[in-house]
Amino acid sequence: MTVRWGIAATGGIATRFVAAMSMVADGEIVGVASRSMDRARAFSSEHGIPYAYDDVAALAADDRIDAVYIASPHSGHASDTLASVSAGKHVLCEKPMALSAVQAEQMAGAARARGTFLMEAVWSRFLPSYRALVDVLAEGRIGVPLLVEADFGFRVPVDPDGRLFDPALGGGAVLDLGIYPLQLCSLVLGHPDRVTADGEIGVTGVDEHMAAVLHHPGGGLGVVKAAIRVPMSCRARISGSDGWIDLPPFMHCPDYLEVSSAGRTDRIEAGFEGDGLRFEIEEVHRCLDTGRTESPVMPLDETISLARTMDRILDRIGVVRHQA
Ligand SMILES: NC(=O)c1ccc[n+]([C@@H]2O[C@H](COP(=O)([O-])OP(=O)(O)OC[C@H]3O[C@@H](n4cnc5c(N)ncnc54)[C@H](OP(=O)(O)O)[C@@H]3O)[C@@H](O)[C@H]2O)c1
Repeated sequence: MTVRWGIAATGGIATRFVAAMSMVADGEIVGVASRSMDRARAFSSEHGIPYAYDDVAALAADDRIDAVYIASPHSGHASDTLASVSAGKHVLCEKPMALSAVQAEQMAGAARARGTFLMEAVWSRFLPSYRALVDVLAEGRIGVPLLVEADFGFRVPVDPDGRLFDPALGGGAVLDLGIYPLQLCSLVLGHPDRVTADGEIGVTGVDEHMAAVLHHPGGGLGVVKAAIRVPMSCRARISGSDGWIDLPPFMHCPDYLEVSSAGRTDRIEAGFEGDGLRFEIEEVHRCLDTGRTESPVMPLDETISLARTMDRILDRIGVVRHQA
């Protein structure tokens, strides 16, 4: 069965989603919504999408659409998801799914009550490199994982109107980039029981760089940094009792892994063709095919836990929250 998708918003990631869908066998994009009908029509004609709408609720109400991809800024994710879920649509929502754990719980609760599929678009987890990582860990090649060190950051020019620097749009390093090293910690070590962090708030009021230490039951530690005003290595290392795994830049989408244990280093190739968003789309299709309303790889409780960790970090830094 072909899944008929609608896209909410017409920005950068929406364009990548269109490219990714072109490599997926059992999906097609049939609608796009924008705040402006002109932009919706321009996007639909540029990408050969049949229907255009001037708001997400109208797209979600259309029976010709099965699933909605939420590609708005972070601050729009909750309202766009809730509009889609209440119309009975399945939803793939860009990361971070919510501005806070309270919002994430509300969104998860709505989807669970309606019986629709909902997943946070943490695309990393579906890439060949991350699937290989899960296998290497399960094989015990580095023993018991004890430490995850990961950073992800760039020096982006300050633009008070851009989504990264605007507090009203959910700007800042933690929510936009920190989520990638944080989800890696969670994938490897589980949910943290203690979170300490500090960071710097810039002139526009968003967190510009941060460092956090996550303690996990059993003693595992996550050491995470993220920034929108500091270039970082964008690497990750997972150390275990018997070795370590290196994720080269960019740690959220590496195309190989290096596994060091028993006195040798093995390189595991994990490159792929086209846009890597296609793997998360395939996961949604697999779940819908088998009647699942959550992905076992990125379930909603994982999203809520990640949102809780980001809440704690932002509170520690002292960021004043908007709309959360
Ligand atoms: N997975 C990834 O690798 C990845 C990469 C980049 C971004 N993302 C995520 O995708 C989301 C969108 O990021 P993006 O880079 O595509 O952003 P973007 O280029 O700024 O586009 C966002 C779009 O959202 C719509 N929008 C709705 N309300 C808006 C508002 N108040 N202000 C500005 N735009 C608004 C706009 O489309 P209309 O004008 O048509 O309504 C705009 O084009 C973010 O949550 C981000 O975290 C994920």
